[in-house]
Amino acid sequence: MIEPHELADGATADVAPVLEIRGVAKRFDATQALEDVSLALHAGEIHALLGENGAGKSTLIKIITGVHQPDRGEILLAGRPVAIRSAAEAQRLGVAAIYQEPLLFPDLNVAENIFISHQDRGAVVGWREMYDDAERILAELGVALDVRNPARGLTLAAQQSVEIAKAISLNVRILIMDEPTASLSAHEVQELFKLARDLKRQGVAILFVSHRMEEVFEIADKVTVFRDGRLIST
Ligand SMILES: Nc1ncnc2c1ncn2[C@@H]1O[C@H](COP(=O)(O)OP(=O)(O)O)[C@@H](O)[C@H]1O
Ligand SMILES: [Mg+2]
Repeated sequence: MIEPHELADGATADVAPVLEIRGVAKRFDATQALEDVSLALHAGEIHALLGENGAGKSTLIKIITGVHQPDRGEILLAGRPVAIRSAAEAQRLGVAAIYQEPLLFPDLNVAENIFISHQDRGAVVGWREMYDDAERILAELGVALDVRNPARGLTLAAQQSVEIAKAISLNVRILIMDEPTASLSAHEVQELFKLARDLKRQGVAILFVSHRMEEVFEIADKVTVFRDGRLIST
């Protein structure tokens, strides 16, 4: 469950950002994917990363989610420097990501997919409780899905909703969406934006990655523009 955040929109400026990136650089062989990137993300804020293909957006996300380690720079969570060494560690720190193509287990049902990471962490699963919790999370999101249906056959939009429910079950504080709308219909994009706004109201900080400018200006409170691994402006 997400605790409703105490700060209203716009009242977040004087608390430590939930996530702060300071001077991060990352190089792959000849490619300087990121150079001296700094940005701050606050609770209850939708912050967009906008940039052309190859600008370094996904590399930054992989650093925040523990897939890559930065060559230089610092990551702070709620004002505290952290080393995010693995995806599991990112998850423990309240960082979750959803992608254009969700990675659900097709033969598991919706509830099992939502709670799969809890099994990884050694929790004992009570089946009744798992179904009840999955139904409650989806109901709070306003998503109508049968939690006993297999993930196989769900639309991409429904799969993303399951990923979001999964993030909520893990007490997500920072939700990263990397090009989540690329394969969605216009209607599905609006449904996803509604979910994003609900999470924002609950105090989740959202990093929304896109190269579609109209979309970014519709959903984001702040926009950071990347070009060739550098942050151009916020
Ligand atoms: N694992 C990798 N190995 C080598 N080069 C990479 C790797 N990941 C990204 N790059 C390069 O880093 C640059 C930034 O890529 P990326 O972060 O994926 O950009 P974006 O998500 O903005 O399209 C690109 O030139 C890309 O080819
Ligand atoms: Mg990318």
